[in-house]
Amino acid sequence: MISSNETRQQATKSTVDWEHVRADFPILKRTVHGKPLIYLDSTATSQKPQPVLDIMNDYYLTCNANIHRGVYEISETATRRYEEARSKIGRFINARSSREIIYTRNTTESINLVAYSWARANLHEGDVILLSKMEHHSNIVPWQILARERGIALRFLDVSPHGTLVLDNLSEMLEGVRLVSLTQMSNVLGTINPVEEIITEAHAVGVLVLLDAAQSVPHLPVDVQALDVDFLAFSGHKMCGPTGIGILYAKRVLLDAMPPFLGGGDMISSVTLDGFTTNELPWKFEAGTPAIAEAIGLGAAVDYLNGIGMENVHAREQELTAYVLDKVRAIKGVTVHGPDASEKGGVISFEVEGAHPHDVATILDSEGICVRAGHHCCQPLMHHLDVPALARASFYVYTRISDIDALVEGIAKVQKVFA
Ligand code: ALA
Repeated sequence: MISSNETRQQATKSTVDWEHVRADFPILKRTVHGKPLIYLDSTATSQKPQPVLDIMNDYYLTCNANIHRGVYEISETATRRYEEARSKIGRFINARSSREIIYTRNTTESINLVAYSWARANLHEGDVILLSKMEHHSNIVPWQILARERGIALRFLDVSPHGTLVLDNLSEMLEGVRLVSLTQMSNVLGTINPVEEIITEAHAVGVLVLLDAAQSVPHLPVDVQALDVDFLAFSGHKMCGPTGIGILYAKRVLLDAMPPFLGGGDMISSVTLDGFTTNELPWKFEAGTPAIAEAIGLGAAVDYLNGIGMENVHAREQELTAYVLDKVRAIKGVTVHGPDASEKGGVISFEVEGAHPHDVATILDSEGICVRAGHHCCQPLMHHLDVPALARASFYVYTRISDIDALVEGIAKVQKVFA
């Protein structure tokens, strides 16, 4: 079992025993339709290791109380654990200070926070926001709402037939742009975008950058200072943590100047009948009783991933992805969308000729294999690829090579049914 002690030395590739890692995930011991569960939908949500489940249970068993409100012991313990988790999460992405770490519900809420607070205070009619055609709806719709309300224009970077961003014309695409908002890793194609270059070019012309890091932070080492990114959004549940907790990282100078998003308890310093003054960062953006157990659970998830080492997580997923691409691309009648393993994370989206993706997923489910089928919250990308839907398999630290072999056998079964 991987220790949940954050100070533990990160494991090196050769010392990670992936079977021991897998044993930390109790759900993987269950069966489905009488077959062992093969979970290949970690891009939608990851499974949870025992230390995360234990710490959340422990919170409820030993110190369940509201935070920042009580002077009694268990409230102070809850507050300390909640804030310690924030510090760990900040260190995980190398933020300068935990004041730059805002708890939200998920990536979607983090992006909406920027759209409602920073963008409404700073963008005006005629300004442009640059997105891409591979964005999740979470990184399109908040900007479409803003565009309708404020007369702001949206522009989209194209996606090449290879499944990568078209960046040859980036300087032209940046004209008139005030914000670039891009996914760091596509939830459909798996493409890891060259965000360092994009941020450098955007900053050179005074443009801020937001990264949708929902798929990158769980799977790659991400360093916000090295990237010099302005805003970064991610979710706890895709990185071994619980649902209901997400993060917005932003540079302090931006957060200081941004108006609050939601109003209520905890985000204020004082309130009179005439008005209010806001609390300090990060609480200025955290109105109401937050997801306390979930924040503590995400802190434990960060400890867990640190125990494995994010370089190791990424290397393992590249190994799995190279294996699956070799196997699935070799199947006649199957088309895989997206680039090669060296340019992507652990996700493959594919079509089986003659079978609707929902039928593919249903037949795989009968074998105990969980994959997602549909538009993956990326309808503009489906339109660009000219497909109604895709089947998608995705991998994480608990995925075995034998899970991929089972997927390949499952696809053969689908082809037999539809032959
Ligand atoms: N964004 C998640 C996915 O791609 C829900 O499945």
